[in-house]
Amino acid sequence: MYSMASKRVLQHVVGRIGKGVGIRGFSSLPDSQISSSSQLINLEYQYSAHNYHPIPMVFSHAKGSSIWDPEGNKYLDFLSAYSAVNQGHCHPKIMKALTEQAEKLTLSSRAFYNDRFPLFAERITSMFGYDMVLPMNTGAEGVETALKLARKWGYEKKKIPTNEAIIVSCCGCFHGRTLAVISMSCDNEATRGFGPLLPGHLKVDFGDEVALEKLFKEHGDRIAGFLFEPIQGEAGVVVPKEGYLKAVRDLCTKYGVLMIADEIQSGLGRSGRMLACDWEGVRPDVVILGKALGGGVIPVSAVLADKDAMLCIRPGEHGSTFGGNPLASAVAVASLDVLREEGLAERSDELGVELRDLLTKVQQQYPNFIVDVRGKGLFNAVELNSKALFPVSAYDICLKLKERGVLAKPTHNTIIRLTPPLTMSMDEIKLGTKALSEVFEFDLPKMLKEKPKHVTSMDADICDRCGRNL
Ligand SMILES: Cc1ncc(COP(=O)(O)O)c(C=O)c1O
Repeated sequence: MYSMASKRVLQHVVGRIGKGVGIRGFSSLPDSQISSSSQLINLEYQYSAHNYHPIPMVFSHAKGSSIWDPEGNKYLDFLSAYSAVNQGHCHPKIMKALTEQAEKLTLSSRAFYNDRFPLFAERITSMFGYDMVLPMNTGAEGVETALKLARKWGYEKKKIPTNEAIIVSCCGCFHGRTLAVISMSCDNEATRGFGPLLPGHLKVDFGDEVALEKLFKEHGDRIAGFLFEPIQGEAGVVVPKEGYLKAVRDLCTKYGVLMIADEIQSGLGRSGRMLACDWEGVRPDVVILGKALGGGVIPVSAVLADKDAMLCIRPGEHGSTFGGNPLASAVAVASLDVLREEGLAERSDELGVELRDLLTKVQQQYPNFIVDVRGKGLFNAVELNSKALFPVSAYDICLKLKERGVLAKPTHNTIIRLTPPLTMSMDEIKLGTKALSEVFEFDLPKMLKEKPKHVTSMDADICDRCGRNL
């Protein structure tokens, strides 16, 4: 039995655990008592870092393009986890690969071989036409890998003087959240308070091949790589003018710079082609894939390149415990199979045309509020007129869409990205655009009267790094 003193200590410890004061112990909350959306949202807010500002909707289960919350309400997915769910939620073929492999072998580490990764390596390189792959997990790790590869190639093959290699990236780019990667970013929120950022970096306007050539002329002998998204996603689905990708290819060849395409979001059928670079028949020197490579099931990323570059990285110089693990490899092979067998790139192309047609009709009804509808395949955005809408933001519109059963997320304060699973039916696409139209017809007039309180200012944000309006 406990003495009075030890009982008091125990009560104190239990009390601290309940309040989350950081003493290790078991949760005092039985799972069965936490099941409603509001309870779960509160719990996450209390115990998780506040590094996101989610739409208040809790995913409980999902199939294809449909998602259900814990209360059983059904929603249509128009975000696809930022294009990680191109094949639709819980695709049966991908789930089968996952469960079968999970029962057999999940991890070997690359200290040994496993019987899945070589098959994945052969499949992905032959599918995209590159000599070799370097497997990682998240997208940001894939980008880090490409940056290291470019520097290493720059020193070994291009003979750039030690520690002087430069990577060029684009204004408005998004390549992830690690330190090297945010060093390329124009997003003040992503960079402020995290300095010093990585040196050896120059920025250029996206879509401006003349400015790119100027940089290459001035600094070409030290530039190892040009990192870019063929369609900028987080910037608001910015599609470059036709001919830009070809011009980039020509300039990279002319000045001996690695052309590094971040296809993490734009690739794997999202833009209506297997790679967005395919729109101009352009072959980058390095391609980075992620997101839908793991079929929305498990993080898998990959860097593709030919031997000339890839063999610059030698044993011990780069890697990841989980990169190329058998579970991820089995899932990635199934994810690639589904994209090909179901013709999802072609489907994305066709449905994208129809989606933009419907969105353009909504724009014609509300020309004051919608300034642009753009995209390629099922990679689309609706840009709102922030002045006409003020103080209503794109986030507020997304909240109303959610109430009407459609899930989308804004990027910046004025753009709504619409990127449904590539398996979505035409009827579901129609339901999504109908909901958007209804938000403008029924909800917006009330919202404009009520004036949401969290929008404080319309001041344009200026990029700390390049001084441009964001
Ligand atoms: C183009 C691009 N690159 C890289 C990333 C980073 O991927 P991850 O979040 O898996 O690190 C993203 C994520 O949105 C992206 O859109």
